[in-house]
Amino acid sequence: MIKKIGVLTSGGDAPGMNAAVRAVVRTALSKGMEVYGIRRGYVGLISGDIFQMDERSVSDIIHRGGTVLYTARCPEFRTEEGVEKARAKCEELGIEGLVVIGGDGSFRGAADLSAKGVLCVGIPGTIDNDIACTDYTIGFDTAMNTAMEMVDKLRDTSQSHDRCSVVEVMGRGAGHIAVNTGIACGATDIITKEVPYDIDKIAKVMLEKKSKGKQHFVVIVAEGIGHSQEIATMLQEKTHIETRATILGHVQRGGNPTLRDRVEATRMGYYAVELLEQGIGNRVVGIKDSKLVDYDIQEALQMSKPYDEKLHHIAEQIAF
Ligand code: ADP
Ligand code: F6P
Repeated sequence: MIKKIGVLTSGGDAPGMNAAVRAVVRTALSKGMEVYGIRRGYVGLISGDIFQMDERSVSDIIHRGGTVLYTARCPEFRTEEGVEKARAKCEELGIEGLVVIGGDGSFRGAADLSAKGVLCVGIPGTIDNDIACTDYTIGFDTAMNTAMEMVDKLRDTSQSHDRCSVVEVMGRGAGHIAVNTGIACGATDIITKEVPYDIDKIAKVMLEKKSKGKQHFVVIVAEGIGHSQEIATMLQEKTHIETRATILGHVQRGGNPTLRDRVEATRMGYYAVELLEQGIGNRVVGIKDSKLVDYDIQEALQMSKPYDEKLHHIAEQIAF
């Protein structure tokens, strides 16, 4: 029976991480476990920035963005010595199990620590939704809703000026935020790495649409493409439609989590502690077809996530 567990958030923060922390803490306490909060991810695990949590430690956080445990990137944890220091810290404090809320990088670290005997369970927390073993990652819905609201605002000003607005959304190498935001905002074009694109063709189609009466345009560009300013400049040169580029940036990582993020974070937090309770580690929790699932970390890291090309093509087909 596992008696003491730790919980940390690692990598980029995501709205809903607090709801996951709360679920982990409250579930563990309800099962009679002791639970320790680790600040700033693997940085705090190595340095011992660790404190015991009780039911009140997670009061008033379910609705807050960011992470009350703070987060960090920890280059030292990529080394054998770093992982060994973390293992020794767990041993010193009697921490037998660890919930790691983060992305792929954080799970690689969790696999290394699991190999040294600390039971680690990963919960996918990233706005990018780029983790293959799960349909959903904590923060994705909130980030998309934030992006949608921002693009709606940009549309107002584009419409007033008969302009084209090129908007870059986050997602690291993945276009999941871009395609969904593009659909939700009725974008004229969506440019992601997953689907080949041609600027000349986009410009030509914009001009055709203009000739049929369309007066303003919204083009969503995934972060993985980069060059959104250059894309805006090229489109303006080729179409003579006044164009502005906006990079939405970190605003997409903040804000109160949506209902979906709070619910999924709570489900996954609960499930992660259930695994640890059974002495099961080296797993990543996920959601597949609305059901909670778990995979071996290495197996999870080798999976690849499909891009919703159908959604992309629907957007293209109905953007008159
Ligand atoms: P994310 O978890 O969101 O993918 P990062 O890739 O920045 O974010 O990873 C978060 C942290 O996980 C890193 O700072 C590092 O401490 C740890 N990590 C990342 N990659 C590895 C790896 N290959 N081996 C061990 N630890 C890793
Ligand atoms: O992984 C989340 C994310 O926001 C990506 O969309 C983006 O590429 C990256 O993190 C930005 O990282 P940083 O916070 O280090 O600028």
